Amino acid sequence: MNIALLGYGRMGKAIEELAMERGHIIIATIDNETDWQEKNDRLLKADVAIDFSTPNSVINNIKNCIELNLPLVVGTTGWNESFEDIKNTILSKELAFIWASNFSIGVNIFFKLNKELAKLMNKYDEYDVSIKEVHHAGKLDMPSGTAISIANEVITNLDRKNNWELDTDSNDNKPNEIMIYAERIDPVAGTHTTVFESEIDSIEITHTAKNRKGFATGAVIAAEWLKDKKGFYEFKEVFFS
Ligand SMILES: NC(=O)c1ccc[n+]([C@@H]2O[C@H](COP(=O)([O-])OP(=O)(O)OC[C@H]3O[C@@H](n4cnc5c(N)ncnc54)[C@H](O)[C@@H]3O)[C@@H](O)[C@H]2O)c1
Repeated sequence: MNIALLGYGRMGKAIEELAMERGHIIIATIDNETDWQEKNDRLLKADVAIDFSTPNSVINNIKNCIELNLPLVVGTTGWNESFEDIKNTILSKELAFIWASNFSIGVNIFFKLNKELAKLMNKYDEYDVSIKEVHHAGKLDMPSGTAISIANEVITNLDRKNNWELDTDSNDNKPNEIMIYAERIDPVAGTHTTVFESEIDSIEITHTAKNRKGFATGAVIAAEWLKDKKGFYEFKEVFFS
């Protein structure tokens, strides 16, 4: 497959290595607005694009791919407000799109565990729940997209919670909200912990990424899966189908 990489930072480089190991060709790397103009010819030869860029550039990148009818895998986080608009455009134009706040297989298993634990805890009001995430200092969005996905999974399955909030100095913990605590420490690739806590004990489940290889592998598998498909997908649907 000819793959165009949108974003050639930490993740773009990890994906390049993995994709080449799996026999794919990196036909173009786009790392800024100018690249979009200068490398247009190469993009026309791409079978699929993979975006791990920045929260500020991802929406324009998606729009450019829509114009090119290019199937797109998106791993960039921090664009939740535009999610429904993008989804509707992809579906109305019958294009191909797959996204995940986290492409690692381990985290997708961890999402399932969170769902089951939240369902179980629905009966036990004495437990409050919070989420902790730690990432390297270069991460631009806070909380992480993965922490938001975990929070949303818990909210869907735990009746006493209907919202999440990023912990700051000025907010207090409301009973209906899941507090998310975020820290930025180099060189952490990504650690997420869900804590259920009562007055007498606590239960914690943690996923720790040791490096970026898991995210890169999932993104390349998603690109291989997406080729020749139409529709708007989330990686967990594909992974567990
Ligand atoms: N979904 C997942 O599994 C997963 C895993 C890790 C990281 N992420 C997310 O992926 C994104 C990238 O992470 P990273 O660690 O590689 O960041 P990074 O800062 O190392 O790389 C981002 C790159 O995007 C480039 N960029 C800026 N403007 C651009 C444009 N207009 N077009 C294309 N590229 C542009 C930057 O020059 C930079 O090289 C972040 O949003 C991060 O949260 C997702």
